[in-house]
Amino acid sequence: MSNMVIIGAQWGDEGKGKIVDLLSAQSDYIVRFQGGNNAGHTVIVDGEEYILHLIPSGILHQGKVCLIGNGVVLDPAVFCQELDTLASKGVDVAPAYLKISRKTHLIMPYHRALDKAREKARIEGEKIGTTGRGIGPAYEDKVTRIGVRAADLEDLQLLRRKVEIALVEKNALLTSLYNCPAISADEVMAELTPLAERLVPYLADVSGVLGQARLEGKTIMFEGAQGTHLDIDHGTYPFVTSSNTVAGNAAAGSGLGPRELERIIGIVKAYTTRVGGGPFPTQLDCEIGRHLQSQGAEVGATTKRVRRCGWFDAVLVRESVRLNSLTELTLTKLDVLSGLKELKICVAYKYRGEEMQYPPQAEAALAEVEPVYETLPGWSEDITGAKSMADLPAGARAYIRRIEELVGVKAGLISVGPDRNQTFSACS
Ligand code: GDP
Ligand code: IMO
Ligand code: MG
Repeated sequence: MSNMVIIGAQWGDEGKGKIVDLLSAQSDYIVRFQGGNNAGHTVIVDGEEYILHLIPSGILHQGKVCLIGNGVVLDPAVFCQELDTLASKGVDVAPAYLKISRKTHLIMPYHRALDKAREKARIEGEKIGTTGRGIGPAYEDKVTRIGVRAADLEDLQLLRRKVEIALVEKNALLTSLYNCPAISADEVMAELTPLAERLVPYLADVSGVLGQARLEGKTIMFEGAQGTHLDIDHGTYPFVTSSNTVAGNAAAGSGLGPRELERIIGIVKAYTTRVGGGPFPTQLDCEIGRHLQSQGAEVGATTKRVRRCGWFDAVLVRESVRLNSLTELTLTKLDVLSGLKELKICVAYKYRGEEMQYPPQAEAALAEVEPVYETLPGWSEDITGAKSMADLPAGARAYIRRIEELVGVKAGLISVGPDRNQTFSACS
C-alpha cells in the first residue's frame, strides 16, 4: 500500500470527505495538513451523515490514527464541539487515535471578529465571501510571527502574554477602523482556559509520530481541504483561501518529507461548483445550473450557502494536474448529470483573441475569458446503483473517457452517490 494525498482539483466541495473515508480502510494514519474549519467534509455511512470540519474524515474507522498537522489553523472551541458531536453519534475519540501538532496555530476569538468585520466592510463585487471562521487572520498572525500555537495551551501564562500582545493591534483595527467592540485578554482567557484542559491530552509531535509510522512501514493518507483553485498562490487570487491547498503542502503541513508523497489523487466533480466570491467561467445562470444545484444538493456544508454551478472546466482541472502532480482522478457526482440531454465540457479559454489551454495569470483575467465548449450526448438513466463501468450508459462512459483525455490523467474511482458503497473502479 502506498501513501496517498487526496486534494480537491476545483474550488472545493468535490467530495473529498467521502473518498477519504472510503480510502481510510487502506491507511493507518489520516492527516489534515492545511486549512481549518472553513472545510466541511461530508461522510455518509449507512444513511447517517457526518460533517467534519477539522477532524480528519478517517475518524469513523476504528483503530486508525487521525492527525492534525502544523499547517492547519485550529479553533479550539470548534475542535471540542466536533468531539462532542461525534460522541453524540457514538464515535468516542480517545487521544491515542487523534493528535494535534504542538506547532498548529490556533484561531482566536479576535481572528473570527476581524474576518467578519473585514468581509462586511468590503464593497459588493470585492467581497471574498469568506466562511467567517477567522482563517485568514489566523494565518496572517502565523506569518507575522505573533500567532498562538497549540503548544501554548500547556503554558497559560505565555498564552496570556501572547494574546495581550496580539490584542494591541487587533483592538485598534476592530474599534477604530471597523467600529466593532474591543476584545479583552480576560475574555479570551475565559474562553480558552477550559478548552485548554480538554485539548492538552491530544497534543503531540505529529512529525515524530509520522516519522515513526514510516519506520514501521505504516501507510499514511493526507486529507486536503478546499481546492486547488482556492490555493493562496495558485488559485484565483484574491478570491482564495489563506493556505496552500496543493498536494506539495502535504509535506510541509505535516512535517514529513516530500518523498513520502506517493499516489496523488485529485478529487474532481463531474461538473463545477463554487461557493463565495470570484470568477467562474463556466457558471450557468439558467435552468441547467438550477438542475445541477438541486440534483446535486449543492449547499455549502459549512455555511449553508447555495453553491454556484456550471459545466465541467477541463482548463482548471488540467492546471490542477500540473500543480499537484496528480497520478489519478476520482470523478464524483456523475449521477447528478443524469437527465441532461447534452453535456458541455470547457476544453479551452478564449482570452483577448487567443485560445488558451491553461488559465491566464493576471488578476482580473479569469473574469474576462470565454469558455470554448465541446458538446457530448447526455444520458437519462439513473446510475446511482451502478457497480462498475459496464453498468454505466455509453454516454456516461464516453464523458469520463473524454475528461481523462482532456486533462491527461486517468480516473481511478467513479462516485455515483453520496454513500460509501456508491463508488467503483474506473477500470472495472
Ligand atoms: P468536500 O468538502 O470535498 O468533502 O465535499 P462536501 O462534503 O462539502 O460536498 C460534497 C457533497 O456531495 C456532500 O453532500 C456529499 O455527501 C455529496 N457527494 C459526494 N459524492 C457524491 C456523489 O457521487 N453523488 C452525489 N449525488 N453526491 C455526492
Ligand atoms: P472544503 O474543504 C469550498 C472558500 C470560501 C471563500 C474563500 C475564502 O469543504 O472543500 P476562507 O474562509 O477560507 O477565508 O474563505 O474560500 N472556501 C471554500 N469553498 N469548499 C471549502 O472547503 C472552502 N473553504 C473555503 O467560500 O470563497
Ligand atoms: Mg466541503
